[in-house]
Amino acid sequence: MDDTQLGELTAANPELAALRDEALSAVAAAVGGDALEQVRVHFLGRKSRLTAILRSIPTLPPEQRPVVGRLGNVVRVELEALVEARAAELAGASLRQSLAGERLDVTLPGQLFPLGHEHLISQTIREVEDIFLGLGYKVAEGPEIETTYYNFTALNTPEEHPARALSDTFYIDLASVTGTSGGAQGTVGDLLLRTQTSPVQVRTMESREPPVYVICPGKTYRPDLDATHTPMFHQVEGLAVDENITMADLKGTLHYFAREFFGADRLIRLRPHYFPFTEPSVEVDVQCLLCGGAGCRSCKNSGWLEILGAGMVDPNVYGFVGYDAERLQGFAFGMGVERMAMLKHGIPDARSLYENDLRFLEQF
Ligand code: PHE
Repeated sequence: MDDTQLGELTAANPELAALRDEALSAVAAAVGGDALEQVRVHFLGRKSRLTAILRSIPTLPPEQRPVVGRLGNVVRVELEALVEARAAELAGASLRQSLAGERLDVTLPGQLFPLGHEHLISQTIREVEDIFLGLGYKVAEGPEIETTYYNFTALNTPEEHPARALSDTFYIDLASVTGTSGGAQGTVGDLLLRTQTSPVQVRTMESREPPVYVICPGKTYRPDLDATHTPMFHQVEGLAVDENITMADLKGTLHYFAREFFGADRLIRLRPHYFPFTEPSVEVDVQCLLCGGAGCRSCKNSGWLEILGAGMVDPNVYGFVGYDAERLQGFAFGMGVERMAMLKHGIPDARSLYENDLRFLEQF
């Protein structure tokens, strides 16, 4: 509204001119969106003085009507534009303010998260794997849920063998898993949590042509819990099948392994033993790590610590996998990873490996 219009308005309707003045300063003074909205409603809303004045034009003296009608609208449009401009101004200010408040200093040092590391059992498996990878072995894996066929039968384990007993093996009751009752599915029998990694021997020979040189690390399960047993534990199985393999190869391989794993100068000894799937079978001891063979409490004064089971693959096993038992020979061995870690690091109780106490785990 220019000065001429203002003069005209003041002369015709001083109240409207004063109202305009008041509204101009109120809009300029409004801080924040809410306050501005209140000002808008007060001066431009349906119940505002301005609206009342514009509505009352027909009742004004005739000479005022055209002036107030024309200039009243100018005031309304002028105020609306002003409110809009002020709203934009306020929005810009609040954006600038929040940006300033949230300014990020990318040069500040970041928050440090505690870094974990591999569990001792994983480290030990890796260590064993590395030793055999260095000898040209490949890593093979198999399922933790097995059938009795792979865990026992194809490993030449007779029906009456005690390892098959309910008390020594976790069988899977399919009915409790699938919700079906009775019938063949409900009977205890075919599925189990593997008690050893040896079924991977069978699976490997089924799927590969000889020669075979594999190690098979993985989880295994047996219903035992005491200072040297946990119901879930780990084994690393080894299998070598080729022509002209003898027990001397088994002994040399395990001696090399023992020295790499436990330290140079370690002697091992082989004692006769029995496993269904090897013939002959042996248990392998390493010279006591604490007393070096002199005899102490840790080795029950024998000077030796048992580390694994092994033997020459029983020709019956080749029959199950379709290998030529006349042409091939091989050896297999299997070690408990918890046991190896406990011996190497002097851990007295296997259960501490799975209690997740960081004070324990951080030592390794
Ligand atoms: N699977 C046997 C066990 O768990 C160990 C073993 C593996 C023995 C391979 C001989 C050959 O006791």
